[in-house]
Amino acid sequence: MSAPIIRSLSELRTLVTGWKSSGETVGVVPTMGALHQGHLSLVQAAKEGCDRVIITIFINPKQFNNPEDYENYPRTENDDARKLAPFGVDAVYVPDGPTMYPEGFATNVSVGGLTDLLCGAHRPGHFDGVATVVSKLFLQSQANRAYFGEKDFQQLQVVTRLARDLDIPIEVVGCPTIREEDGLAMSSRNLLLSDRARTWAPELNAAMEEMADELVMGGNIADLHAKAVARIERAGFTEVEYLDLRACDTLEELTAPTRPARLLAAAWLAGVRLIDNIAVG
Ligand code: PAF
Repeated sequence: MSAPIIRSLSELRTLVTGWKSSGETVGVVPTMGALHQGHLSLVQAAKEGCDRVIITIFINPKQFNNPEDYENYPRTENDDARKLAPFGVDAVYVPDGPTMYPEGFATNVSVGGLTDLLCGAHRPGHFDGVATVVSKLFLQSQANRAYFGEKDFQQLQVVTRLARDLDIPIEVVGCPTIREEDGLAMSSRNLLLSDRARTWAPELNAAMEEMADELVMGGNIADLHAKAVARIERAGFTEVEYLDLRACDTLEELTAPTRPARLLAAAWLAGVRLIDNIAVG
């Protein structure tokens, strides 16, 4: 049996109010659909951590800085409902545009600092779009916990910060990146890769793993950066937007892994922008 689909906010509110008045905890997994094993691992974590689980599917126009990217984003609602069926989730919330952004909608949630760098520097307005929709989804679902993948590491920091800054009573839970056997981080965007480009894609992660190992051994960051970029470009990527060593908590740039650090990258392959990040040390 497919998971029950809910399209209106009033229906969602009625359900959640009922659950909470019986003392049940509620988990929410915000998604834009095109569900893969990475999303399903978040659903599994939510099922294990909460009495009731809501998945949200909304392709948020405000977080796409490129209209073509928005148009091309995979839309697979029926498949998504089928993939969710075995998990026995309590609701799949699929609001439409006017439910999320009614006429006259004028509020923007902007998290300072954290959003100026990495993906934020290359995708103007992206994180405001994410922060705005995620604030709404937190408030609409009134969930006790929200589950996000570490795959979007900067997003995870942004949503954690906004919940804290706005006193939204929700615990943000980060879950590990799920990878294909060849190391490619699972992403809805992988569906956009041609068969040929798909065979080149794992080189991004392979080059990052090599760089991380050599950083831990005390290698020079500039040399290792140049070597990794050359390897990624040799594999067929057209541009490495960034490949940075950053502090896990503040995302400030580091030259060596002297505190908990992460290597984060974004690169273009055959017209598709892929991102990845790994712990260093
Ligand atoms: O990670 C995503 O799929 C989206 O950015 C999110 C968190 C669902 C907000 O639209």
